[in-house]
Amino acid sequence: MERSLGILLDNQSLTPIYQQIADQIDARVRSGTLPANFRLPPTRALASALSTHRNTVVRAYDELSVRGVVESHVGRGTFIREEAEPNEALDDTAPLPWSSLLSRTVDTDAFNRGSRIVRNDRADAVDLMQFQPPPELRPSEQLRRCLDYVLRTKGASALGYAPRGGVPELKELIAAELSRSGVPARTDDVMVTTGGQQALDLVARSLIDPGAPFLVDESTYSGAINVLSAAGARLIGVSTDAEGPDPRALRHLSRAGAKGFYLMPNCGNPTGTMISESRRHELIRWSRDAGVPLIEDDYGADLVLDDTPQPTSLRALDGQVIYLGTFSKKLLPALRVGFLVCPKALQRHVIPLKQAADLGTSALLQYALVEFIDRGYLRRHLSMLRPIYRSRRTALVDALREALPDNVDFDVPKAGLLLWLSLPAHIDPEVAARTAQEAGVMVTPSTLNSVTGGGSGGLRLTFCAESEERLRLGAARLGSVLKQLDQRESRKQSRRFNLV
Ligand SMILES: Cc1ncc(COP(=O)(O)O)c(C=O)c1O
Repeated sequence: MERSLGILLDNQSLTPIYQQIADQIDARVRSGTLPANFRLPPTRALASALSTHRNTVVRAYDELSVRGVVESHVGRGTFIREEAEPNEALDDTAPLPWSSLLSRTVDTDAFNRGSRIVRNDRADAVDLMQFQPPPELRPSEQLRRCLDYVLRTKGASALGYAPRGGVPELKELIAAELSRSGVPARTDDVMVTTGGQQALDLVARSLIDPGAPFLVDESTYSGAINVLSAAGARLIGVSTDAEGPDPRALRHLSRAGAKGFYLMPNCGNPTGTMISESRRHELIRWSRDAGVPLIEDDYGADLVLDDTPQPTSLRALDGQVIYLGTFSKKLLPALRVGFLVCPKALQRHVIPLKQAADLGTSALLQYALVEFIDRGYLRRHLSMLRPIYRSRRTALVDALREALPDNVDFDVPKAGLLLWLSLPAHIDPEVAARTAQEAGVMVTPSTLNSVTGGGSGGLRLTFCAESEERLRLGAARLGSVLKQLDQRESRKQSRRFNLV
């Protein structure tokens, strides 16, 4: 196959060049001239063969990817997809110009980072990446009983749209539980959302205009980066120390006009860090001085593993704090039930946004959750869960202490299900995660969590999804990968140093 793939460009045509390239490759795939798994020429080579700009070819390949004709693998190239065989039923031969129709949102860099993370399909791979309760810790039988009960007693009345803001009985239970745990909330303050993710999305959409600055920790929850970026925020990473966000960095940002500061005070994702009591007071003072609302994501509430008392919640220190939570981590992600507690002035606007987004969270699942909590199932589930997670944390911590090289550090998390490994500068987190996958252990590299895509390097490890024995196996595999990388990279560096 010649390097230009036989593509002819018509500079006089009204059809943009990138689209001419995409259309001609598409046509060759559909006629069978270009078979499945065929590797397209590198963008630079094709651009040079066609005497056009490389970005034009990049755009053409993007267009083909949107049409589902090709898929790209970082470092390997762009290939014709298996399913791109001609399909008579779907007439896609003259597609609309999708790449010029798509919004800027879908092009958000944050969305593309996730696709760089390839999941290993090795059957025995230890999963230190998955952040949800594993199947054996999902109380499906109790949920079935609750669903049966709701359908038997409420029948069709449980199968309509839920009231705006959520089922009142659930709001009441959530408010009572929050108040018991030291987060002041009345029933009317609580809004049920479709997961914590939607709570954050609603906050983002009610505060952010495109280009508005928004503060997050330098290493933060990747889903927050996605949702805030999708709302158009210009994210600014705030550096942190052992106690939480650095007050000096915040003072510099006081007049940046930020629309909010997103935080996870009890167990940061990915770092597992807990913000100290005194830093929480400082944060509230700063928020008031700067006029920037704090968004407190307490997604790991009830998963406190140590007996030491927890610092005061930000919302308890100031009623202007926006607080969100979820039943995904402590119970079941499939419920898609989260909640939002926010000042009245904001709630007024958030409720119509929620209505616009999905017309309400599933009424059936909210009623089932009410029953689940009323029957005491949640309380019992949590008392069963905490010791299991505590033992898993101990197993992972002990095994890592044995296996890791000396220059890889970590703190033992007090709450939540995440452990953060800080890597020395000469180990690239993405290389480490890829090599670990090849060695049969899956971990998340810090690039997914960093606002700039760089940041201080590390790996996020979860200890919820695997048994103690497999956590030990995972730690051993990871330790030997990091030792090898450490030696190899140190050798490379000293060679470079000697050459200078
Ligand atoms: C920090 C944090 N907040 C919120 C969520 C949202 O979870 P969900 O939408 O399932 O409630 C997650 C999920 O991983 C998370 O890690």
